[in-house]
Amino acid sequence: MNKVAIVTGAGSGLGQSTAVRLAEEGVNIVAVDVDQEGGQNTVEMVEKLGQEALFIKADVSKPEEVKKYVDQTVEHFGTIDYFFNNAGISGNGNYFLDNSVEDIEKVVGINLLGALYGVRYVADVMVKNGKGAIVNTASSAGVIGQDSVVTYSATKHGIVGLTKSIVAEYGKDGLRANAIAPGPTETPMVKDFFDANPEMKENAEKGIPQRRLGTPEEVAELVTFLLTSKAEYVNGEVIRIDGGFTNTK
Ligand SMILES: NC(=O)c1ccc[n+]([C@@H]2O[C@H](COP(=O)([O-])OP(=O)(O)OC[C@H]3O[C@@H](n4cnc5c(N)ncnc54)[C@H](O)[C@@H]3O)[C@@H](O)[C@H]2O)c1
Repeated sequence: MNKVAIVTGAGSGLGQSTAVRLAEEGVNIVAVDVDQEGGQNTVEMVEKLGQEALFIKADVSKPEEVKKYVDQTVEHFGTIDYFFNNAGISGNGNYFLDNSVEDIEKVVGINLLGALYGVRYVADVMVKNGKGAIVNTASSAGVIGQDSVVTYSATKHGIVGLTKSIVAEYGKDGLRANAIAPGPTETPMVKDFFDANPEMKENAEKGIPQRRLGTPEEVAELVTFLLTSKAEYVNGEVIRIDGGFTNTK
């Protein structure tokens, strides 16, 4: 029987690359996103690889929509083996005191509450099954402090706490959860930004010991390793994938 993975933020970037990489390993995919077109593209890419895929349009910041994508996955596939809890937004890049309450709530709602709701409903299924693996997407900003991203950084530090603590509670029930902390990675969003601001790209690369950004494919490889049985005894970890960036801070 093929394994079943839910991937949130599957319509673009790290979510899309990981959905495709998992499909190459014979995994069926539930692609969750607010972006219908991106999500459908991912479904087509997975189907081309011969796996079954389902797009579910859901906003992860709304608990009822999170419950819906979990319920629909179980109805359709009967189980959830893997969960890439990945949907997120970067925020507006302004200094913290230039953010409104609404700006703060938006980033917290998607990045932190969305991830918490996801684990709340998915882990419920996994613990009942006595097995399951989760990868939560944190960030370099989840392991070090960085300016212009205070709210984002707070949510990503929260992802780290969620990952460690859920394992403390449910590791005994067969649940594995790890977090990834990518540095700047050339997803479409980041690529468009740096294409428009080439001097900022140069600056970013100077701060990375390997002198280049990461690729979505490199991140997808790590997530696939962490989700599958190859990483069976890796639990509650935060794995940095950043070319040495945070190591130098
Ligand atoms: N790209 C980087 O440099 C980088 C670095 C560190 C961490 N991250 C994290 O990786 C994750 C993925 O980012 P990415 O670079 O692939 O970005 P991306 O913008 O390419 O993809 C994010 C996807 O999430 C979806 N999404 C946004 N809000 C949503 C919501 N409320 N409900 C459901 N889906 C929603 C978007 O539609 C999009 O398809 C995010 O959590 C981000 O914080 C990215």
